[in-house]
Parts: sequence; structure tokens; C-alpha cells
Amino acid sequence: MENFSVAIVGGTGNLGSALALRLGAPGVKIIIGSRDAEKAKKAVEALKPKLRAGEMIGTTNQEAVRDADFVVIAVPYEGHAQMVQDLKGQVAAKIIIDTVVPLNKGKPFVPPAGSALQEAQQILSNEAPVVGALHNISAVDLGDVNSSLGDVLTCGDSNEAKEKVMEIIKRIGARAFDGGPATNAYVIEGLTGVIISLNRKYKSKHGSIKIVGIGEEPGH
Ligand SMILES: NC(=O)c1ccc[n+]([C@@H]2O[C@H](COP(=O)([O-])OP(=O)(O)OC[C@H]3O[C@@H](n4cnc5c(N)ncnc54)[C@H](OP(=O)(O)O)[C@@H]3O)[C@@H](O)[C@H]2O)c1
Repeated sequence: MENFSVAIVGGTGNLGSALALRLGAPGVKIIIGSRDAEKAKKAVEALKPKLRAGEMIGTTNQEAVRDADFVVIAVPYEGHAQMVQDLKGQVAAKIIIDTVVPLNKGKPFVPPAGSALQEAQQILSNEAPVVGALHNISAVDLGDVNSSLGDVLTCGDSNEAKEKVMEIIKRIGARAFDGGPATNAYVIEGLTGVIISLNRKYKSKHGSIKIVGIGEEPGH
């Protein structure tokens, strides 16, 4: 992948802003989306001094997705279904990266569709492939480009889309794995609930996951 553009829906938030900084690279255009264009522009002003390379602009979520190759959904679960519904009809030929974890006061739950990812899939029908990713990453580490990152499990029903998303994940400095089909999403999403408990118990902001025994040199 040479030049590409990524819209981050909810890009003014913790995860979206941190991801934007990691994505900064020559040839990458980052579009920070918000429900409020002014808020998006302010977020970009604050982020730009820390951006290593690439282009960054801020606008409404609806505008943001228009010219994007990838659309990251980074809003709280409460706004997820409505947001995907609002984007429907505008995301054909794009790849959706869904980071959303169904949480209620920090506790994970399985939504009626089976997972946030499947909820997005149902709403979009076949308009665009949805790939789950980044659920188990710490936004704090993501926003510090010098921090090492945990591993990223992707999931979804389009192998081609997963490959492209894994390529992006590797570019931001994390190992990426194909964690299987969309039916695995509730496990990956729910794991974040465990990480939140770990962070609370051990007073950390950096909890993440590491896969062992796969993709390693023999003898390690
Ligand atoms: N934080 C993490 O470490 C982390 C890690 C992995 C996954 N995630 C997932 O990433 C998603 C975003 O997390 P976050 O911590 O970045 O959340 P956040 O900062 O609370 O919210 C992100 C942005 O979403 C928009 N938003 C808030 N409520 C909304 C609603 N009801 N409808 C539409 N948009 C709304 C807001 O942007 P505007 O006001 O500008 O529209 C906000 O800045 C969550 O689903 C979370 O589970 C987070």
C-alpha cells in the first residue's frame, strides 16, 4: 500500500486521536471525524505538532468518510449502531475497521447481534467489509509513538480486508494476527473487559495482550 487515507469516526477521542498519531507517515492522509466539525478542527490543531509525517484534517464524521479508503469506528458502544446507520450508503468500496467494545460502566457484554462487529455487519449488509481490530490496545501506549504496543487480533469475514488492515497495524508498530471470522469478535471485544479489570487491579494504563507460539523463530 502506497498512499492511502484513513477516516477516524470519533477521532477526537482517546483511541482515535492516539491512532491518528501512530498513522502519521509519508503518503498517509488522516481525517479526524467528529459530530462537530469545529471540535474536529481543534483536535487536529492539538495533534498536528506531534504528527511525524503525513497529512491531517478535521471535519464532520459524514464528510470524513467521503474520500477515505479506510473508515475506523472509534466511538463508545452507546453511539455505535446509530453511527454505522448514519454512515450507511457512503462507505461502499471502503474497509471498515471497528474498534468498538460493548461496555456498560466498564463491564463487557454481548450485544443482541453477537458483537459490535456483527452489529455493524448487519447494518451495512454487504456495502463494505467490517474488520474488528485494536480492541486490546492501550490508547495511552498508542498515543506515545515511542511506546511498544501489545499484539492486535483482527477478525472478520473478508480475508482480503483483514490482510489490508493487518498491513496497517504492522505499519503503526504492532504485531497483527488473523483472529478468525466475525463470530470470534465477541471474544476479542470481551477480552478488553478483562484488560480493564487487570488495569484496575494492578494500577496500570498499559494492559494489552501478547500471542506466543505463533510467528516466532524456532527455539523461541
Ligand atoms: N480507550 C482505549 O484504550 C480503547 C482501546 C481499545 C478500544 N477502544 C474502543 O474505542 C472506542 C472509543 O474509545 P475512546 O476511549 O476513544 O472513547 P471516547 O474518547 O469516550 O469517545 C470517542 C469519541 O466518540 C464520540 N462520541 C461520544 N459519544 C458518542 C455517541 N453517543 N455517538 C457518536 N459519537 C460519540 C466523541 O467525539 P465527538 O464528540 O467529537 O463526536 C468522542 O470524542 C470505544 O468503543 C472503545 O471501546 C478504546
